[in-house]
Amino acid sequence: MAGHYDDKRAACIEALRYVQGHYRWVSDRHLAEVAALLDMSRADLDGVATYYNLIFRRPVGEHVIFLCDSISCWVMGREAVNAHLCKRLGIQPGETSKDGAYTLLPIVCIGHCDHAPAMLLDDELHGDLDAVRIDTILGIQP
Ligand code: FES
Repeated sequence: MAGHYDDKRAACIEALRYVQGHYRWVSDRHLAEVAALLDMSRADLDGVATYYNLIFRRPVGEHVIFLCDSISCWVMGREAVNAHLCKRLGIQPGETSKDGAYTLLPIVCIGHCDHAPAMLLDDELHGDLDAVRIDTILGIQP
């Protein structure tokens, strides 16, 4: 993939996403290998990886929930949704459920403000969230 770019470093996000597609996260070892392939320092590549919030630098669960924490979602009840998710999953934001099924992470606006509060479950967008919708999405009986 780096051969498609004049500067190999331009492929860094694509390369990180490729690694993540195989391993679900980017370990220090894999980051170092990608950095070497792209003639980048590990620190520079780590800077990109940690800035880009869809690259995971720690292991995550089988599914990742990104709950929006921007203004429209806050106004429309994001905190109640967050509390319900934490209760149902038995975790706090930034953590993974004990069964390894879900990781809960905050994210900036995901462009679904007209259906706030909103979240991404893996690549799927969900809006108009409340406790009932969360339970339905997660397949939990109330
Ligand atoms: S503020 Fe949450 S989707 Fe835009």
